[in-house]
Amino acid sequence: MDKSAKDPAKIRTMFSTIAPRYDLLNRVLSLGIDRCWRRFAVRQLPKVENARFLDVATGTCDVALEIIKRFPPDTKVVGVDFSEGMLELGKEKVRKAGLQHRIDVRFADVTSLPFEDNIFDASIIAFGIRNVQDYKKGISEMGRVVKSGGRVVILEFTSIQNPFFRVPYRFYITKVLPFIGEIISGKKGAYKYLPSSMLEFPAPEEFKKAIEETGLKDVRYYKLTFGIAAVHVGTK
Ligand SMILES: C[S@@+](CC[C@H](N)C(=O)[O-])C[C@H]1O[C@@H](n2cnc3c(N)ncnc32)[C@H](O)[C@@H]1O
Repeated sequence: MDKSAKDPAKIRTMFSTIAPRYDLLNRVLSLGIDRCWRRFAVRQLPKVENARFLDVATGTCDVALEIIKRFPPDTKVVGVDFSEGMLELGKEKVRKAGLQHRIDVRFADVTSLPFEDNIFDASIIAFGIRNVQDYKKGISEMGRVVKSGGRVVILEFTSIQNPFFRVPYRFYITKVLPFIGEIISGKKGAYKYLPSSMLEFPAPEEFKKAIEETGLKDVRYYKLTFGIAAVHVGTK
C-alpha cells in the first residue's frame, strides 16, 4: 500500500464519511463476531478499584461502552478519536445510554495524546492502530499515559497465517467485503482501503516485536477466529 493512503487527513476524512453506517457495516461484514473480539480485548484490562481506562481511536464508542458493561460502577473511561464524524456518533450513543458521567469522549490524535504521563490504569485500542502511519509512536503514547504496571491492549486484524483459511479469507475481504461495504455505505473507495490495510498489517509475532521496541514488557498475544484478528497485551 502506498504510504500516502495512511495520511492522517485522508484517514480522518474517510472515517467521517463512513461514520453513519459504520456500526451496521461492522455487524454485517464480521457476521457479528466483532463484538466477541472487543469483549475478549476488554477482558484483558486490569481489575482495579476506581479504574481509569483510555479507549484510543474510540470511534463510535463500542469499546468504551463494553468496558462500562463489564466493570464495576467506580470505573471511568476516556474515549478519544480524531474523526469528528465518528466522535459525534460515539457521543450520541453514550448520551442515549445515560453514561456521560462515566465515559468522557474527546478529540485527540493517538500520536500526541493530550494527557500527562502515568495517569490511566490501562489504554486500549480496537481496530485503530493499523490506520496510524507511525504506529509505534501511537503505541509509545498509549504506554506513556499508563501508570507503571498498567497495561496496553491492542485489538487488530492480522495478516492471516492459517494456510487452509487464507485463500477463502482473502477472497472474502478483497472481493465480497468491498462490494457489500459500498452497497451499504453508498460510498465508493472506503471499503477498498479496508482490505489492503488488513492484509498488510504485520503478523502477530512481528507486531509483538514492534510493541516491545516501544518499551512495553511481557508482551503476549492471542489469535482470535483462525487468526483473523489478534489481541496483544503489554505491561509498562
Ligand atoms: C475502524 S475504526 C475503530 C473504532 C472503534 N475502536 C471500534 O472498535 O469500532 C478506527 C478509528 O480509528 C480512528 N483513528 C485512526 N487514526 C487515528 C489517530 N491517529 N488518532 C486518533 N484516532 C484515529 C478513526 O478515526 C476511526 O474512528
